[in-house]
Parts: sequence; C-alpha cells; structure tokens
Amino acid sequence: MTSNGNWVVAKFGGTSVSSILSLENLATIVQRHHQANKKVMVVVSALSGVSNKLEQITQSPEAVNIEQLCHEVIEQHNKLVKELALPVSINQIVEEKIISLKDLHQKLLVEKLSSFFATQAQVMAMGEQFSSVIIQAWLEQRLALNVALIDAREWLVSEQQDQRSVADRYLNAECHIEASEQSAKALVKHGDVLVTQGFIASNHCGETVVLGRGGSDTSAAYFAAMLSADRLEIWTDVPGMFSGNPRVLPEARQLTQLDYREAQEIASTGAKVLHPRCLRPARNAGIPVFVGSAFDIDKGGSLICNMLQAEPQVKAISVREGVLLIAMETSDMWQRPGFLADAFNVFAKHGLSIDQVSTSETNVTVTLDNLTQGISQERIASLAAELGAICRVTVLENCSAVSIVGRSIRMLLSQLSQAFEAFKNRSVHMLTQAANNLNFTFVIDQNEAPQLVKQLHDNLISSRRESQQLGVTWAELFGQHDSGEEEFARRSWWFDKVGALEQIASEHGPCYVYSMQKVNEQLDRLLSLKSIDRFFYAMKANSNAALLSAVEEKQLGFECVSIEEVRHILNLFPSINPQRILFTPNFAPREEYEEALRLGVNLTLDNLYPLQQWGEIFDQQSLILRIDTGTGRGHHQHVKTAGNEAKFGIPVSDVLGAKDLFEQYQIKVVGLHCHVGSGILSSENWLENGRVLQELAQHFPTIKFLDLGGGLGIVEKPQQQALDLAAVDASLVKLKERLGGIELWLEPGRFISAESGVLLARVTQLKGKSGARYLGVETGMNSLIRPALYGAYHPIVNLTRLKSPAVERYTVVGPICETGDKLGLERLLPVSHEGDVMLIANAGAYGFVMSSQYNMRSPAKEVVFENLVK
Ligand code: LLP
Repeated sequence: MTSNGNWVVAKFGGTSVSSILSLENLATIVQRHHQANKKVMVVVSALSGVSNKLEQITQSPEAVNIEQLCHEVIEQHNKLVKELALPVSINQIVEEKIISLKDLHQKLLVEKLSSFFATQAQVMAMGEQFSSVIIQAWLEQRLALNVALIDAREWLVSEQQDQRSVADRYLNAECHIEASEQSAKALVKHGDVLVTQGFIASNHCGETVVLGRGGSDTSAAYFAAMLSADRLEIWTDVPGMFSGNPRVLPEARQLTQLDYREAQEIASTGAKVLHPRCLRPARNAGIPVFVGSAFDIDKGGSLICNMLQAEPQVKAISVREGVLLIAMETSDMWQRPGFLADAFNVFAKHGLSIDQVSTSETNVTVTLDNLTQGISQERIASLAAELGAICRVTVLENCSAVSIVGRSIRMLLSQLSQAFEAFKNRSVHMLTQAANNLNFTFVIDQNEAPQLVKQLHDNLISSRRESQQLGVTWAELFGQHDSGEEEFARRSWWFDKVGALEQIASEHGPCYVYSMQKVNEQLDRLLSLKSIDRFFYAMKANSNAALLSAVEEKQLGFECVSIEEVRHILNLFPSINPQRILFTPNFAPREEYEEALRLGVNLTLDNLYPLQQWGEIFDQQSLILRIDTGTGRGHHQHVKTAGNEAKFGIPVSDVLGAKDLFEQYQIKVVGLHCHVGSGILSSENWLENGRVLQELAQHFPTIKFLDLGGGLGIVEKPQQQALDLAAVDASLVKLKERLGGIELWLEPGRFISAESGVLLARVTQLKGKSGARYLGVETGMNSLIRPALYGAYHPIVNLTRLKSPAVERYTVVGPICETGDKLGLERLLPVSHEGDVMLIANAGAYGFVMSSQYNMRSPAKEVVFENLVK
C-alpha cells in the first residue's frame, strides 16, 4: 500500500464539539498537526443531545412536537455560534437545513417500510451536518487557515449486504473501505485541513445511510483507512481507556498502550469509550489509534496499535451488568449427539444470541446479555417453556459478568492464582475463558460485583508498578489526591540546594550526590527506637566510604553479604571489634565461611549444606541460623526473600530436624535471623517475623538475640503511606517484654541511605515518536538499574526548571542500547531542553552499587554534597 502521506484523522465526539473549552482544544490539536506538516481531517459528531432529539422524530413521529423540537435544535446551535463569535450567516445555514427536517418529519408520518427507513436515516444524519458547518467556520476563523467542508456521503459508500435487514442497511450500515490514493489525491485538492461529518455515509443508490449510534468513531476509522493515515485520533470525554471504570474505581489506571485486540475486547466487555466497530478498519490498515480527552488534551491517553512483542499482561477488569444466566440440565445429553444443536436452535428461534457457554456432561449453562438485548420477561418465559421440553431449565436474573482482560491471558494463570483470593466466600455461577485468549469471565450475583471488581483490580492491577502499558491512576490524573510530587520535592534535602547541585552536575558530569546530613537524620531516627538493641547497616545498599564512616561514627554494626564486604570494613576501620560485623552469606564458597570464622565475625548459616558437608569447620563455633519464615514481602517479586520461591533461609521444620547436627559439632546457636524482603511499608512485618523466631527460640536455650533483618521501606511513589516507625517500635517493645532478656537486632540498608542520594544527569536529546515523547539523559540503566529491573519508581524533576509548570509527559531514557533503558515513564515535567539538569531522587540505596560498565559507558560517579559545598 502506498502512503498518501501525512494524514491525521481526528474525530471529536458530541460533548467535544459542544463546549468552548473543548473547541479551543480542537483548534489547538488541528494547529499542532498542521504545524507538524500533517494534513488533518476532522470528523465531527452532532452537538450533545441532538441525535437523541432526532431519534425521537424517527421513533415516534406522531408524538413529537416538531415545531418545538426544531426550535430547540436551532437555539442550541445559535447559542454556540454566538459563543464562538461566528458570523450570523452560519446560523442561517443551520436554519435553512432545519426546514428540510420538517419536510422529512412529514414524510415519516405517511411513509411505509423501506422508504420509511431511508427517511429515518436522513433525519438521523442531520445532526452532523449542522455541527460540521459550525466547526468548519470556527476552525477557519480561529486558525486563519483555509478549511474545507467535505460531505462524508460523497466518500463513504456502504456495503450492499442483501442478507441484512432493510433497517440495518439504512440505520446500521457498514462500509468496506480500502486505501485509495485516488481518493486521497481528490480530497487534498480541497485543502490540507478538512472537516467532515461522522456517522453518515451513502449507499450505492446515493441515498443517505447512517452507521449506528456512536458510529462517528467508525467513520473516522474509514477515512483513516482510505487515506492510509499516519494516525487516527478519537477525542472524547476521557483521556483514553482505563483498567476499570474510573467513575467507580478512581484507582483505575490509564492504559497508555494497548494492542488492537485488547482494546477491542475492553470496548466489547464494558468500557464505552470507543465504538467497538471502529477498530477493525484501523487494525486492518495498521493505523495507530490514539484515544484522548478533548477536555484535557495534555493528560495523555491510550495508544492502540500492533504490539507483537509485548508480554502478556492483565489490562483491565470490566463488568457487564444485567446478565441473564440459563442453566439447562439433563442426564440424557451424555453421549447423545445433537443436544447442543437442539438447545441452541431454540435460542435462535426466539431471536436470542448467546454470549457465553459452559458445558459439562449433564449441564449446559449460557448467558445472554440482557441489557443490550433488552429481553422481556415474556420472551424469557416462552424460551424457558420451549427448552423445558428437552431439559430442566433454571433462569438466574440480575447477574454480572466480571472479566479479567488481557492478551494471552492463559499464560498468566500463575499470576491470577494469587488474585483468586478475591473469590473466597463468593459463589461463582459460571466461569469461562474466551476462545480468543483475551479474557476470563466470571458470572456472579450483580450485588457482589462492585466488591469483587475492586478486589481483583487491587490484586491484579493496582499492585503492579509503573509499566509502559499501565499509566497513572485516574485519581492522580485528576488531582483527586495531589500527585504529591511537588510536596515531595519541597520536603527533600536537595530542594533549596538547586544552584549548588546544578554546579556539581556541570563540573562532575553524571553523578550520585549524597547528603550526609540526611544519612545522619535517618540514623538518629533508628537509634531512637526503644525496642532494638543493635543495628547492623546492610552495606550492600550503599558502600560509599563517607556513608560507612557516618555509620561507624554512630557505632552501628555492619551487615555484609560477601567476604569482600567484610574485608572492606576491616580495612576501613582496622580497630573495629569483629563482633560489630555480621556476615550473612548465601550459597557462598566454603573458603568464605572459613575466613569469617578466622576473623571472628558473627556468622549466619542460611542452609544446612555447609554443616552436612563441611561440618568440621564449624566445630564448637557460635552460629546464627537464618530462618525462612514462610512469607516473603517487598516492593517486587525479585526482592522477596522468604517463602517457597526464595532461595534463602532454612525452613522451620528443617531447623528442628537438624538438632543432631548442631550437637554432633557442638555448635552453639546464639541467634536466629530472618530477612523476608526489601522495601516493606507495613509496620506489622517485623513483629510477625519476630513471633516466628520467638517460637523457635524455645528450642535453643543458647539463643542471645533475634535478628529481624532489614527491609524497612521508604516512600517511593509520593502517595504511598510512609512506614510507621513508631508502630514498629511499639509492637517490638511488646515482643521484647516476652523474650526474657533475648536481644532484638535489625539490619536496615535502604532506610539509611535511599533518600540521601540523588542522581544528576543532563538532558542530551529530545524526540517525539509514535505518540510518545522521549527525554534523553547522559546516563541510564548503567547507573541506575532499579527502574529496568523492578519497574521501580524514582521521582524525577528538571532542576533547571523547577519553577516552571509541568505540562509535558516525557519518558526519561538513558543512552544505553536496550529498550528497557528507561528511568521514568510518561512523567509530567516542564518543557525541557538539551543541557537541563535532571534529578532522579531516592537513588542513594541500590543505585551506584548496582551500576555497571555496560556499553563501556562509565556509570555516574559518587560525590558527597557536604564535601563540595561548605
Ligand atoms: N539483610 C539482608 C540479609 C538482606 O539480604 C538485605 C537486603 C538487607 C538486610 C537490607 O535490606 P533493606 O533494608 O535495604 O531493604 N536491590 C534491591 C534490594 C535488594 C535487597 C537485598 N537484600 C532494590 O534495589 O530494591
């Protein structure tokens, strides 16, 4: 297919063409495309409410007061013309057209059947003809450009489709549109900004037909296909499709990228954002479809395209209410051919289309979409009566079908299994998996649906982190909670040090800057806890020498996970008492244990293998046992370090079974240890783990301490609830009271260093591509791998433009040759420029220590703020 070049087709729905605000936005959108050298075709719906009025004329021509109705329609258009300060001549065009509406009404009163539908279509088609006249005039005036008004009926011709009913052919028409260079050439002769009507087309005889309510989206898709457009844009009331109904679930997330089939499925299983029929023409022609809000054009939206490589992911939880369930039971159907055919024939005879089916040897259960089919009680009763001749029938009304939607959904079964907790104590009438592998659907009682949807959404979507496809929540987009980012910045140590930081960035290039003041603040917060006897800083989080010295100065111990970390501490602080070092190796070689024992540091065993295989090296030693408490926690699956999927720790049952081994080598078990994960914000975690260790400690009279690990989380996304440290302390004080002198130890890493560090990097280049805007910085995943590895969120600000309004959404990327080299997705930032200094916050833990030389690019170096700025 040849591209006719550079067309964007943009459709604006009824509400979008009815208010000054959205019409201003319409003009801005057209202008932006025009300035980017695109040709634009604007497809418009009728003004809000007008199609409903026209429908009244077609539905009950005898009952309407046509004079009154025409007057209202004229008034509505006149009002808009006035508000837009358009010349009165525009009113006159509308008024003249309305005269023909009265004639059509007359015809409807006398006509019969086929010509009746033709006239109905003509009436329904009026609304878009009125609105398009106004929009064309408005755009021409507002943009001072030539804007041509095109009659859609000259370009969109419907399929003949003799097998369809006459009514459908006129009122629910379909077109088959192919790319046509000839049409594109002919259209461009009218100009490069065109306005046309949605919803309307013509048939082979040149009569007006319409595409079914909501069909303007489909018109726009037809034009996009005809023109081989670069992009189809559907501007509506909401910024795209969401992972749930945002009016009920403010935590529903914007679906920033969708595959055509996923979008189709979401459109068909509940969301009413897109006309389901509009996607096929776009998909066939491979045209990306963007859905955004005409009221908030900078709030992003959904980009629907072919996503061949994307991983399967749950995208939405959708609901259809008013579902009717019919169960047909008989023992006769077992091994009896034809039962299904007989039963389904009865449905066909009653004109009822079946939505879902589930079968067993003696039962076939189906659902009907009650709301869309508007099924009356009598129809159901007569269906049931006829079915009753071949089976036992149970009808269940008021059901809801709740669907979990996403591409290749069957590959996600393990993920879904955890979410199925939501079904505890609920009866599910029916469960189906769609043959197209796009949904699992559960039919339940309607009154149970809201709660279930919320739980499924929490489990499957809210708990997911930032991703290219799941954007921000509705609540964040519309400031129902302040996104908190500004407040976060104001409270950060670096907020009033912008000038100095910019200077550092320009002198040192990309760098991690640490504030020792912040480190000390965090240390003091920990040291104020009453319940904890000793702290060991988990130096894997950040082993910068200045930071280690700050820790040393406050006399905390050090938790090390490699013999190199142990040696590093001994080198830095040669006079340190080795008992202030805790060595917690995992699958380390034998020599590391031997060296640790020689050095006299505290040693933790997290596996019985060393004892079973080289038990002699532990002869008469004091050891700590790392226990798997059974439940992991943490900000991401990769950092949960207890439970069945984690490689760490000795299960409680194995510990008790190994008592002989301890006795054989006369080992003194002095401590029990656990660390269940990292980035934990729930304050009960440490008490729960402490209880497991407390229980076990009863079997080891030599125990002196319980080490409850690290894992204390910090707020990463501004709207998270901070860890309640006072609550952790209070709960552990209580635990300690029952421990009879056994000490409590903690080994935090992140809590001490994360917020003290920021990564600075300058903007290198900017780019707009397929609807996304990229902002490139000097360094990427080679310095900070957390976003790529865990989808971790780090606040990002443009330091150079801290005071400018954040109006542009950028995906912040580094220079590394991997698509995953992203530091932040779709972040709202000020319009940024090459050379601006970007600050990536909360980078003091697991930042520099996890950096690499990948691509032979040196990672950001480390500097200490107080050493540079006195
Ligand atoms: N103790 C042990 C035995 C540990 O394995 C860890 C961390 C800690 C203490 C300290 O945990 P913290 O207080 O920092 O949460 N790279 C990941 C974090 C991995 C944590 C590994 N173990 C991240 O960037 O989130």
